[in-house]
Amino acid sequence: MKKDYFKIENDVIIITGGSGKLGSIYSNYLASKGANIFNFDILGNPNSEGKFGKDPENSKIEYIEVDITQKSSIESGLNQIINRGLQPTGLINNAALDSSPSTDSKDTGPLENLPLESWEKVLDVNLKGTFLTSQIIGSQMAKNNKGSIININSHYGLVSPDHRIYDFTKKSGVEFYKPIAYSVSKSGIINFTRYLATYWAEKNIRVNTLTLGGVFSEQDPRFVKEYSKRVPLGRMAKGEEYCGPILFLISEASSYMTGSNLIIDGGWTAW
Ligand SMILES: NC(=O)c1ccc[n+]([C@@H]2O[C@H](COP(=O)([O-])OP(=O)(O)OC[C@H]3O[C@@H](n4cnc5c(N)ncnc54)[C@H](O)[C@@H]3O)[C@@H](O)[C@H]2O)c1
Repeated sequence: MKKDYFKIENDVIIITGGSGKLGSIYSNYLASKGANIFNFDILGNPNSEGKFGKDPENSKIEYIEVDITQKSSIESGLNQIINRGLQPTGLINNAALDSSPSTDSKDTGPLENLPLESWEKVLDVNLKGTFLTSQIIGSQMAKNNKGSIININSHYGLVSPDHRIYDFTKKSGVEFYKPIAYSVSKSGIINFTRYLATYWAEKNIRVNTLTLGGVFSEQDPRFVKEYSKRVPLGRMAKGEEYCGPILFLISEASSYMTGSNLIIDGGWTAW
């Protein structure tokens, strides 16, 4: 029988921010392929009153309380996995702080007045947190000479946000700007990936960036219309459309790929 390069049965995959919109989609999808999923998040199971522990509806998924900005919290999460006789084979650095027009306006106002705390809290989670999880979980993978790490980026880490799509917010008297810290932190992910990919190549750990475009999640219809006009494919993404790329990058199907950036953005960065 021919080898199935996409096989991830019984792999042990850690997803940071696994309780969020996209993390929970990846979690369910990868579990359906037979992987053991550990969601590291400050929030628990979104379908079970935020509880931590095994998902009562899916024995392949477990929620572990981890704050990725705290080294000891990540170490404790990893130890819970190792103490069960399991070793991590995959890490998806997916947790991040983002802002939408419904977010607190002091974090999303004009750059001239942006408080330093807004900058710091985004970089803390998006870059420091990604560094810490990679350092702790990647080091364990390095000991085992096996692993795949996916670092989640945004198209706003490749190009500047087009703030004209938020012009509608001005009509309601609130000016929304996608925070500069989000773009900058996501740009940092790209070279973070390249660094780790070359650093751990001899340990058989592959590290890639997955860059995503905006996902439809019942946003203000004025936003959806303006955003979609800016996308060559003419619409926002469905979260499920990222499952294929996630499986590709986490599995042997991408065995000759490391230090790369896979862009799935409906063509946003093509013009
Ligand atoms: N949704 C989109 O349109 C979109 C577009 C491009 C890129 N992305 C990227 O995809 C990823 C997931 O996005 P999402 O829309 O699912 O976001 P989300 O806000 O729904 O989920 C993020 C999760 O991260 C968790 N988190 C936050 N701080 C944490 C911490 N300190 N420790 C542990 N967990 C923490 C949150 O509790 C949440 O469950 C992010 O990296 C985001 O930048 C999303």
